[in-house]
Amino acid sequence: MSIIDELQSLKAEALASIADAETLSQLDSVRVTFLGKKGSLTRVLRGVGFLPAEERPVVGKISNEVRAVLEAAIQERQAALAEADLAARVSADAIDVTLPGRKRLPGRKHLINQIAEEVVDIFLGLGYMVAEGPEVELDHYNFTALNHPPTHPARSATDTFYVRDLSQGLDEDQGPVTEVLLRTHTSPVQVRVMERQKPPVYVIVPGRVYRRDIADPSHLPQFQQIEGLAVDEGITFGDLKGTLDYVCKELFGRDRMTRFRPHFFPFTEPSAEVDVSCGICAGSGCRFCKKTGWLEILGCGIVDPNVFGYVDVDPEVHTGFAFGMGVERIAALRYDIPDLRMLVEGDMRFLRQF
Ligand code: PHE
Repeated sequence: MSIIDELQSLKAEALASIADAETLSQLDSVRVTFLGKKGSLTRVLRGVGFLPAEERPVVGKISNEVRAVLEAAIQERQAALAEADLAARVSADAIDVTLPGRKRLPGRKHLINQIAEEVVDIFLGLGYMVAEGPEVELDHYNFTALNHPPTHPARSATDTFYVRDLSQGLDEDQGPVTEVLLRTHTSPVQVRVMERQKPPVYVIVPGRVYRRDIADPSHLPQFQQIEGLAVDEGITFGDLKGTLDYVCKELFGRDRMTRFRPHFFPFTEPSAEVDVSCGICAGSGCRFCKKTGWLEILGCGIVDPNVFGYVDVDPEVHTGFAFGMGVERIAALRYDIPDLRMLVEGDMRFLRQF
């Protein structure tokens, strides 16, 4: 085969390989195979030296043409492959802007905290200070200094969670032989505040409390209370009534009325439970208020002189009132929530309403 024939067949072969190359790197190896320093064209042209002198320019010209044709073909193929490559990457990365986004809901305060803050704010407006106390409490503050006799039923291990130090060798089923418990109400903070602060005292105390109750529509083993305590010279039951009537109207609406029913608490005397008129029937009686026209919302009373005895306040000089309300209960009454457990289950479909 003459060199010219070899060049022609090399050209045909190279054009076919260029056309077959499917990626840029395949194309580059085709270029190296045919046009590279050690490639086919170089190899064929090594034979030129053996040709008669007059044939050499002809072969040189043809080989230049072959090289030019192949380089052009490679360039063209390269452009086509680059374009295809870009198109493929663009379509792989494509974002469907018509796909509906996922809505992110803003965070918000839990209803219980909203209400607790609202109550605290009302009392801040009346000049009260916020006080807090420990959730793990001593029997002394939770019961004894609040005038509970040693036999009071609330002290039983079936009502109260006692905290036992198991490292002291006590068994789980040994009786309530401990002084440490989870507070059953926020009232122990009354005692703690009066221990450090002499009257006048005006405090509002939000906090978690614990009782050994099974959760049901109207009970939770853990819930929140807000305690209030006012101690000053000349405080009367009238001050208590005026304060709580104002607070109920702030919380439930100006048109609501309050009533005070006699009750008993060991640490207040006299004591009362406060009802607010039913917002659904306005007092005429309906299912929501169980036909009574009234909804019970808190307990209160005049601080018992025995409590003052534990904190060295002279009951001949100072008198005081105290009250305690359940935050979950207020939420349930205000928004007609049929089951307190809904407030702690964390179902966003429910909680988002508030
Ligand atoms: N501590 C009482 C309760 O949990 C409520 C209360 C507080 C009553 C203050 C009177 C005075 O039921």
